[in-house]
Amino acid sequence: MDRRDFIKKTILATGVFLGGGVTVSEITKAAEEKFPVFGPDLKSIGGRKHTPYVKAPKKVRAGEWFDVYVEVGYYHPHPNTMTHWIESVALWIDKFEVVKATFRATQGAPKALFTVKIDKPGNAILEGLGYCNLHGLWVSKPIILEVV
Ligand SMILES: [Fe+2]
Repeated sequence: MDRRDFIKKTILATGVFLGGGVTVSEITKAAEEKFPVFGPDLKSIGGRKHTPYVKAPKKVRAGEWFDVYVEVGYYHPHPNTMTHWIESVALWIDKFEVVKATFRATQGAPKALFTVKIDKPGNAILEGLGYCNLHGLWVSKPIILEVV
């Protein structure tokens, strides 16, 4: 096989592989099964190391920006080494991830202040998320926010 044939067959094979019937929803489902959400757990040391702490107002105005603080390690310090660290913290509003901060091992403290807004009046559920490279994805206690 000459170089031109090799490249042509490689491109064809790649196209067949990518077009092999795997849908985005299947990938999403696989990711959810691969990364179950743990917590909140403030009873065990392992749980306290990973369960995010969230500080948010109890009431906000619809359409106005407000701050939400999310931290992993607030209840008990989490290791921050080259082999074990918190890769990200995020904020979910009504189960949707709206903001996320990522951290490098040893250099980034797993805490973030997010500025967000909610346009629709009513109650909203805020949850902080933290992802540990060894222990997976953890959720905070839910906070019910009144949007007026
Ligand atoms: Fe961990």
